[in-house]
Amino acid sequence: MNDLSSFNEPDALTGIRVDSCAAGFTMASETLTCSLLRTLARSKPAARFLELGSGTGLSTAWLLDGMDAASHLTTVDHDKALLSIVERHLGDDPRLTMVCADGDEFLHSLRGQRFDFIFADTWAGKYRLLDEALALLNPAGLYVIDDMLPQANWPEGHASKVAHLVTTLEQRQDFRVTKLSWASGIVLASKMQ
Ligand SMILES: C[S@@+](CC[C@H](N)C(=O)[O-])C[C@H]1O[C@@H](n2cnc3c(N)ncnc32)[C@H](O)[C@@H]1O
Repeated sequence: MNDLSSFNEPDALTGIRVDSCAAGFTMASETLTCSLLRTLARSKPAARFLELGSGTGLSTAWLLDGMDAASHLTTVDHDKALLSIVERHLGDDPRLTMVCADGDEFLHSLRGQRFDFIFADTWAGKYRLLDEALALLNPAGLYVIDDMLPQANWPEGHASKVAHLVTTLEQRQDFRVTKLSWASGIVLASKMQ
């Protein structure tokens, strides 16, 4: 088995890659991770999805490619220029809502809402406001994070933050957690109640 072949990528990806390169955006999730996101998304029919950190919409495109017609994805980023790339390539999809906001403020504003799937790919809901993000999940909801293995672009002191996040998730009695030392390092957590 070769896990780097036959991805059958979403159509929007070519254009998003070109625009990401032109914008100098280098923080996109890697293809293996995105492929996993799409597969997991497919297993959640009629579901509410939340993506924290849209970037240029690369992972957004894969999530949408897995979601069924009755599902909905809200994605948030504070960078208007990046979101304009998402809008250009994915803005016609009625299942997508793009929000330009600070992630922390947006997470607070979601209090009381419920989601079935959260991909936390920015500080908010991952290294900050983790409890608040996990509280948004329905029972059986999935929380997904990547970049948990050492990355070249990690700032000084980031490794200890990663270790703390993993330990915190491992200790949650209301989640079942799997760690994958695969791709950039992924943690999957599913909610018990
Ligand atoms: C790792 S990138 C997201 C990549 C995207 N999910 C993908 O895989 O293509 C993290 C994103 O978080 C955004 N971000 C950073 N700080 C933020 C904040 N305080 N509020 C909202 N978004 C923020 C950045 O603009 C960046 O696009």
